[in-house]
Amino acid sequence: MATEREAAVDDYIVERLIGEDEAVAAALAANVAAGLPPIEVSIAQGRMLQLYARMIGARRILEVGTLGGVSTIFLARALPEGGRLISCEINPKHAEVARGNVANAGLADKVDIRVGPAIDTLGAMLTTQEAAFDLVFIDADKQSNPDYVRAALHLAHPGTIIIVDNVIRQGGVIEEASSDPMILGTRALFDLVHAEKKLTATAIQTVGAKHWDGFLIAIVEG
Ligand code: DHB
Ligand code: MG
Repeated sequence: MATEREAAVDDYIVERLIGEDEAVAAALAANVAAGLPPIEVSIAQGRMLQLYARMIGARRILEVGTLGGVSTIFLARALPEGGRLISCEINPKHAEVARGNVANAGLADKVDIRVGPAIDTLGAMLTTQEAAFDLVFIDADKQSNPDYVRAALHLAHPGTIIIVDNVIRQGGVIEEASSDPMILGTRALFDLVHAEKKLTATAIQTVGAKHWDGFLIAIVEG
């Protein structure tokens, strides 16, 4: 849980820099109504993802973990005419809620939500020689993060940006002896990125509406 002051600062950021956002507000309400866990990115973080996609002129975006589609909406907004976002979601109910939210945001024509274990969906994309993605956002089960990054590397081109959510876990990432599979998965992700010469990376700790967590950000080298 965020502290009151962290949440208040996020409210200030949203009020001054982002403003009213009917589609995202409706999506958040629909997610609560449908009983989805409230673990989507914050509004400030969603706008950050949108800005990253704009900064690199992303035309093709891959998302791993749709949940209710809040990050999907922010990322899809960055796409130009003809741009495409494919999002993988294991839970059919989450996918249905997300499709409604994406449609309500006017983005249905740019977004393709694929239901099933993401690793299978990503494997199928390799088989069908899906074109490379410009930006990959990974925000699903943390145990599988190394597998998702490995798959993303096969669906990337030099310059592709890979962003992974929830890599700090309230500092838990440094607990070497942890038995929490989410922390072990996160540490395995750091090990993979450490060993992968093709990735130049950092991680940024965040506070705010989602309390203390962070993003790993990497670029695929040529
Ligand atoms: C969890 C997952 C998330 O994607 C997130 O943003 C926060 C928490 C979780 O599974 O604990
Ligand atoms: Mg997350």
